[in-house]
Amino acid sequence: MSITIADLQKKKETGVKISMITTYDATFARLVEAAGIDMILIGDSLGNVMQGRGSTLAVTVDDIIYHAQCVLRGCSTPFVVADMPFGSYQTSDDDGVRAGIRLLKESGAHGVKVEGGARCVNLVKRLVDAGVPVMGHLGLTPQSVHTMSGYRVQGKGSEAAETIYNDALALEAAGAFSIVLECVPRDLAARIQNALSIPVIGIGAGPDCAGQVLVLQDCLGMGTAKAPKFVRKFADLAPVIVDALKSYDSAVKDGSFPSDAEAYH
Ligand code: KIV
Repeated sequence: MSITIADLQKKKETGVKISMITTYDATFARLVEAAGIDMILIGDSLGNVMQGRGSTLAVTVDDIIYHAQCVLRGCSTPFVVADMPFGSYQTSDDDGVRAGIRLLKESGAHGVKVEGGARCVNLVKRLVDAGVPVMGHLGLTPQSVHTMSGYRVQGKGSEAAETIYNDALALEAAGAFSIVLECVPRDLAARIQNALSIPVIGIGAGPDCAGQVLVLQDCLGMGTAKAPKFVRKFADLAPVIVDALKSYDSAVKDGSFPSDAEAYH
């Protein structure tokens, strides 16, 4: 039985923190489930970490469906959210409802995530009415990287903070079951979480949110680029993996792998 929205809401109400991590394949989905993590996000960050792109903009609904299908073959407990990629809902709410339904129907994900505040309110209502649970995403919204002039902390001045605060209230009123809040000052995140009854999942938003999310490869220290301040590496796997691969390479090249014991007789 997978974790439900009611379970997540109860955690928020009882002060039990919610853990979330991005995952893109079945192998890691199994490991994430074994670790007891509550929620998985098939983030459009797969454009960066899986496809090697410089942004999330080229990711398609088909890409998200493919990776979500892989993830859902590897786990059954976490609540799984599929990202609505750039271009799948900005053109019209009809397009957004169609994309949201496809994501649930074809991947088996339990909910979708949309980036944006006021402009997404009607879409969120329509998705929820259609039976598609929606997570909002405010603050740094990577699909708007160019309008934001890069990946930078959002909500710093009082006007910018008010906009994000009001957007959060509007998304909750529209029926969002949770909101990701990315790269905003700690006090703004705390104010938003205090005002909302739904769980806020922070990333670069400080410790006062109901839960936290990280990109898996950042969390495990598998990235090559310099990580932002909010990333904590819970392991440093990149050198471990490279060392293992170097040992394999040497063993193949010096003839010690495979040995006779590793051969069939
Ligand atoms: O795409 C993604 O991985 C995300 C998280 C960083 C929240 O949106």
